[in-house]
Amino acid sequence: MRIQGKTVLITGGAKRIGRALCLALAAHGARLAIHYRRSKTQARRLKSQLQARGTSAEIFQADLRSPSQTHRLIRQVVRKMKNIDVLIHNASLYRKTPLEKVRGKDWEDLWRIHVCAAFFLAQALRKTRKGREAQKIIFLADSSTLHPHPDYIPYGVSKAALVPLTQALAKALAPHTQVNAILPGPILLPSSATVQVKKAIAQAVPLKKIGSPKDIVQTILFLIEQEFMTGALIAVDGGRSLV
Ligand SMILES: NC(=O)c1ccc[n+]([C@@H]2O[C@H](COP(=O)([O-])OP(=O)(O)OC[C@H]3O[C@@H](n4cnc5c(N)ncnc54)[C@H](OP(=O)(O)O)[C@@H]3O)[C@@H](O)[C@H]2O)c1
Repeated sequence: MRIQGKTVLITGGAKRIGRALCLALAAHGARLAIHYRRSKTQARRLKSQLQARGTSAEIFQADLRSPSQTHRLIRQVVRKMKNIDVLIHNASLYRKTPLEKVRGKDWEDLWRIHVCAAFFLAQALRKTRKGREAQKIIFLADSSTLHPHPDYIPYGVSKAALVPLTQALAKALAPHTQVNAILPGPILLPSSATVQVKKAIAQAVPLKKIGSPKDIVQTILFLIEQEFMTGALIAVDGGRSLV
């Protein structure tokens, strides 16, 4: 699929990796549907920035823990932008949950945002496809699910569930929709991470560095152009999942 002129919906697009994806895809000629939950100011600023560069960009609010808001998001984007060619489910909740402190609400929130939202976005998107039109779905999972962290069990398990979900949807939505997942390693650490923590994380990566949003951007661009991959799981993690 050529990116130029295509409509791309990015969940959690106002900040961090999502924002980097919006800027890069706009530079390649995409029309941007930027979803946010709480970051309205950042979403508005990004929209203005993109529009000033001549990109067609709109912003949409939804709490993706809710299936009805998830379906409504897709309907609103299609109403405003006519179609969705590429869906990138990037929104996520990185919540530390030490074993003794995990509550039912943690499981519920993390399962809903990572797994249920991915499913309901795909389900709603399917309904918008016209005829034989091609669509692409890309999920942002996490390579740490291959070496799970004990303080992040609900996060890790819910992200890991994106693996069979990607494969099942790839079969269910073939041949017109390709569904793939990227498993990032350490890319953008929480702002609370100290220099020592960053060094220790880089040391644990075989390539001895932390990645950058550019690494995710390049993989997304590749997956949008690729016409013969579906159900693929691509670790972009400097080899972290190998050790
Ligand atoms: N950063 C990394 O190094 C890293 C490593 C491995 C995997 N990943 C994956 O890559 C993706 C991007 O990473 P990131 O660190 O940039 O993500 P992030 O900052 O943790 O989250 C992205 C956005 O998700 C949105 N979000 C959270 N809860 C939501 C909800 N209930 N409904 C709707 N949106 C919600 C938030 O939007 P608002 O701000 O608008 O509320 C947030 O800005 C994520 O899927 C992440 O798991 C990242």
